[in-house]
Amino acid sequence: MAFDHSKYIPFQPVRKTDRRWPDKVIEKAPDWCAVDLRDGNQALVKPMTVAQKQRLFDLLVKVGFKQIEIGFPAASQPDFDFCRKLIEENRIPDDVRIQVLTQARPELIERTYQALEGAKRAIVHVYNSTSTVQREQVFGMDREGIKQIAVNGARLVQEIAARYPDTDWTFQYSPESFTGTELDYAAEVIDAVTEVWRPDQGQKVIINLPATVEMATPNVFADQIEWICDNIQRREHVSISVHTHNDRGCGVAAGELAVMAGADRVEGTLMGNGERTGNMDLVTMAMNLYSQGIDPKVDMSNMAEITDVVEACTEISTHPRHPYAGELVFTAFSGSHQDAIRKCLAYRKEGDKWNVAYLPIDPKDLGRRYEEVVRINSQSGKGGVAHVLERDYKISLPRWLQIEFSQCVQKEAETHGGEIDSHTIHRLFEDRYLAVDNAWRLTTYDLHRDEEGVNATVKFGQPAIELKGHGLGAVEAVVAALQDTYGITLAVEAYDEFALGEGTNANALACIRIVVDGEIRSSAALAEDTTSATLQALLSAVGNHVGAPESVAAATA
Ligand code: KIV
Ligand code: ZN
Repeated sequence: MAFDHSKYIPFQPVRKTDRRWPDKVIEKAPDWCAVDLRDGNQALVKPMTVAQKQRLFDLLVKVGFKQIEIGFPAASQPDFDFCRKLIEENRIPDDVRIQVLTQARPELIERTYQALEGAKRAIVHVYNSTSTVQREQVFGMDREGIKQIAVNGARLVQEIAARYPDTDWTFQYSPESFTGTELDYAAEVIDAVTEVWRPDQGQKVIINLPATVEMATPNVFADQIEWICDNIQRREHVSISVHTHNDRGCGVAAGELAVMAGADRVEGTLMGNGERTGNMDLVTMAMNLYSQGIDPKVDMSNMAEITDVVEACTEISTHPRHPYAGELVFTAFSGSHQDAIRKCLAYRKEGDKWNVAYLPIDPKDLGRRYEEVVRINSQSGKGGVAHVLERDYKISLPRWLQIEFSQCVQKEAETHGGEIDSHTIHRLFEDRYLAVDNAWRLTTYDLHRDEEGVNATVKFGQPAIELKGHGLGAVEAVVAALQDTYGITLAVEAYDEFALGEGTNANALACIRIVVDGEIRSSAALAEDTTSATLQALLSAVGNHVGAPESVAAATA
């Protein structure tokens, strides 16, 4: 059988009895390092052009990243050229540190420093692979041999840096494939590197622990990070960084748990582009912090610009459900969600803490509009349809009509499939409820109240028909006139009138539901005043049932 799980080896958990990280809460943003221009770029079908790199670099600076890995200049001429361009054209703000990657090989380290000549401050990121599988199968070297590569690389990084004293250097070491490395051995290599660099004597040092491949659940990664933090020498003098990949879909979770476990710094890419299933997504992790009331120290408020630039530079489109950034992430189609969101937004007062059902953050914080939140398809209910009419056309419907009309919208959605826009919903409402047959168009009305009630005269149609009736109120009086004239049995089941908000031509909306000769008819009308609207709605509802008024009048005469 090809699909055979027994071929895989379960990842061995870390044996740990002093686990503290599960009780920790993240209270501040880690130091961020954006690796879009290096790790992200290495994973693209078509690597970025210099112009694309520049555009993405400028965006990263604008968003507020202070550490940006810009490439692997010793391995790629375009990366070398881009690095030179940034330095020579003075495009790196003073508070931003560029970072470049190099393998721990002498000729590559040498060339890396050539790329960085003239930089005011920079991070030289040196790595070699330390996992069991790479030692045994790729390099054919033992633990000592692999450690020696790291130590030699660290020495050379230090030696060459000394030739450029005008640059403020930070050294970074990554035991690549850390997640597949025995922890005691990883600590041994890290200690050997920091023994060369001596962060305790003032050298700025970052130790970056990559989940080059995400091999286990994020709690296991957190255990690995906590273990390293507890067991390396000179811990307090180094910045512990994590660099997670997303092979199991938990890159962000692993990054977050690693921060709980003691990591000071997190590397990732905007929207998570990177090798295989991607790098840790900086947008998601930063916005997760923001949604907990923590300043993420990067500004994602122009999310449309972020997605535009990332899409243009990576040529990868954003998934519509991408956390915080996707087109649909603030949209509810489901009726119960729409209803709850609508009620919470109405309940909320300016200045309140954000506490809205189904919306973990305020869409406005990311430049989105509440208008996008409620969208209608066949899954939507009365609340959503009512919300759209109210929001876009200032038409409020009574509950009974919301229920009736939403069924009509649902039918339309089922017939055509997909989404129904606000314009179509309004047109359906007009056609079904507001349309007035000229034969039943109200021209004038006259109401006189005496001790016994109201005497009503209504004129409608062309040529005009005039009816007179008496009742306790205006509606009752006209109902009586219609019953007498057309020989129908007519009862009003519900009616509601609303004054309309600014921005509409009419001042009033009336909605009515009648039972006429045992059949239910509903109608609505817009008019200058509420009485006209109500009488018109009544005439329209009766008209729907009886057809042309003259013919019925003639028939009943
Ligand atoms: O994923 C990885 O291990 C890397 C290293 C070079 C840090 O990208
Ligand atoms: Zn990586």
